[in-house]
Amino acid sequence: MSSMQEQLKNLKDEAIIALNEINNKDSVMQWRSKYIGRTSKLASVLKNLKDIPQEQRKDVGQLVNAIKKDLESAYLQRIDDLNNLDIDTHPSVEIDISLPGMPSRNGGLHPITTALNKTLDVLSKLGFSSIEGPEAETSKYNFDSLRIPDDHPARDMWDTFWLNASDADDPLLLRTHTSPMQIRFLEENDPPIRIAVPGKCYRYEATDATHEWMMHQVEILAIDKNISISNLKGTLQSFAYEMFGLDAKIMLRNSYFPFVEPGVEMAVFFRGQWLEVMGAGMVHPDIIKAAGYDPSVYTGFAAGMGIERIAMLLWDIEDIRYFYQNDLRFLNKF
Ligand code: PHE
Repeated sequence: MSSMQEQLKNLKDEAIIALNEINNKDSVMQWRSKYIGRTSKLASVLKNLKDIPQEQRKDVGQLVNAIKKDLESAYLQRIDDLNNLDIDTHPSVEIDISLPGMPSRNGGLHPITTALNKTLDVLSKLGFSSIEGPEAETSKYNFDSLRIPDDHPARDMWDTFWLNASDADDPLLLRTHTSPMQIRFLEENDPPIRIAVPGKCYRYEATDATHEWMMHQVEILAIDKNISISNLKGTLQSFAYEMFGLDAKIMLRNSYFPFVEPGVEMAVFFRGQWLEVMGAGMVHPDIIKAAGYDPSVYTGFAAGMGIERIAMLLWDIEDIRYFYQNDLRFLNKF
């Protein structure tokens, strides 16, 4: 190997060692001009190739070009590494503290979570403690114990997501409402009872601006001696005032649910019309009896409210479908 070639190899080694010691981008630029730039040693060797003896010229020329290529790619690699170090905020990387800060993107609660929390807060002030029930429910609790037999027309709207791997006599389905917890809770607990049951429910539903096939409900159940429909009315009224403010206009009108007698629905005035936000009523005497209590002594009321509807009222949202489209333009407003 000629001394020329040896010198070039040493130069390459030196360059690589120097490059690896560099830890900021400015110094990398200086390194580049020193080792591969127009005024570098390599460049001058190339420029002076004609002074090299004829028989070595070709080899030296090729070697210089190969070294140049290697250094060039080592240089690019180093820049890359430094960029990555920047991200990891490596302590030895110079940081320009005069640059404007990067806004941090904080997560937030989904509006439905916020509305649900607010609902449970208000209900807790009214004396209801919250408890959850199963989302996959048996047909017995979802329907039969609530006085909705197989051939009842209410099942049509609630003929929903049935789960395959379940008992044919008492099949499982995604619950259509939170009312099954009325029965489950009554089976295990004695009056006085005041519970709020939050949870997701699923329906066989053609979606539109006020209907979704999945939604959240909060069920309330109060069982005690001497509970009358005026307690129901007073509770719902207080609830509405706490949730929507004292100028909220609410209306109770007759409705039918097999597990209450009488049944009502509560609507709130919204965007020029009445929006139904819950079904309610006095717990049916048969249900009290089935739980082992005398319905002439124990009475109670129940209600099931739709949290998406409540959220629509809270923030003046005209279409329920916005909640689950995962559109950040919408979600970022909360
Ligand atoms: N479970 C009923 C529904 O989903 C609402 C309701 C609850 C009605 C409790 C009366 C009493 O529509």
